[in-house]
Amino acid sequence: MSEFGSFLIFCYICYCTDLFGEFKQVYNRDIFLFLYILVIILASTTSSKVKDEDTPVAGKSILYLNRNQTEEWKGWMQVLFVMYHYFGAEEITNIIRVFVAAYVWMTGFGNFSYYYVRKDFSIVRFSQMMWRINLLVAFCCIVLDKHYMDYYICPMHTFFTLMVYGFLGFMNKYNELGSVIAAKIFACLLVIVLIYEVPGVFDVVWSPFDFLLETSYDPPIDEWRFRSGLDRYIWIVGMIYAYYHPTVERWLQKLEETGTNCEYQLKQPL
Ligand SMILES: *[C@@H]1O[C@H](CO)[C@@H](O)[C@H](O)[C@H]1NC(C)=O
Repeated sequence: MSEFGSFLIFCYICYCTDLFGEFKQVYNRDIFLFLYILVIILASTTSSKVKDEDTPVAGKSILYLNRNQTEEWKGWMQVLFVMYHYFGAEEITNIIRVFVAAYVWMTGFGNFSYYYVRKDFSIVRFSQMMWRINLLVAFCCIVLDKHYMDYYICPMHTFFTLMVYGFLGFMNKYNELGSVIAAKIFACLLVIVLIYEVPGVFDVVWSPFDFLLETSYDPPIDEWRFRSGLDRYIWIVGMIYAYYHPTVERWLQKLEETGTNCEYQLKQPL
């Protein structure tokens, strides 16, 4: 608590007082790259072996897109997000957009995998996750007197996570059936098309949440429309990917077990 408190006080001092003064954002590609390479070198010294508790089946690790990999992938992108905003590195805006999409992809992928495999729809765990996503932002809003939408990435992930949870949780005892999953994914697509592509629907759907979506823009809702709209489909792609992930993983495991000799004989049935 005191660590968290000190951190918030520090933010307050930096953002709301003149104690440290202000500085103009300067972007310099060399400095940017230098710092990022420095982070890579530092990080490589802390790389660790996969622990046994990270492997769902004893001795059998998930080969690709396992939790460690996706968490690391997220971490690298977060470093870039922070540096991008810190330096105002406008020349990499496009790739940053792609990374934000990759992040939302993982929201669909990770959450689908979790709920599909673990079948743990308990409201307690779900609330914990919502709390984890929004804790810092909630306190930043209070301490720095900001709008929730100033940290649009949080409402966005909250919304898409809620969608995955809602769709998979709804009548979840039928999730074993491929046709039910297909119908659910199609329903997700339909909902998004309805909300975003049919004129007027977006404003009606979000009107009860006006107090959350306030911004300094005019009209305020446009910021949310723009931000959440950029990545509105990619989480569904992540879910589809997650659905087929165990199958592809099985193929890879088989390939792994066949050993190097056989890698040249892929003509043979696996
Ligand atoms: C679900 O998505 C949210 C938002 O990206 C993320 O914080 C959370 O870790 C994800 N849950 C799982 C189990 O991957």
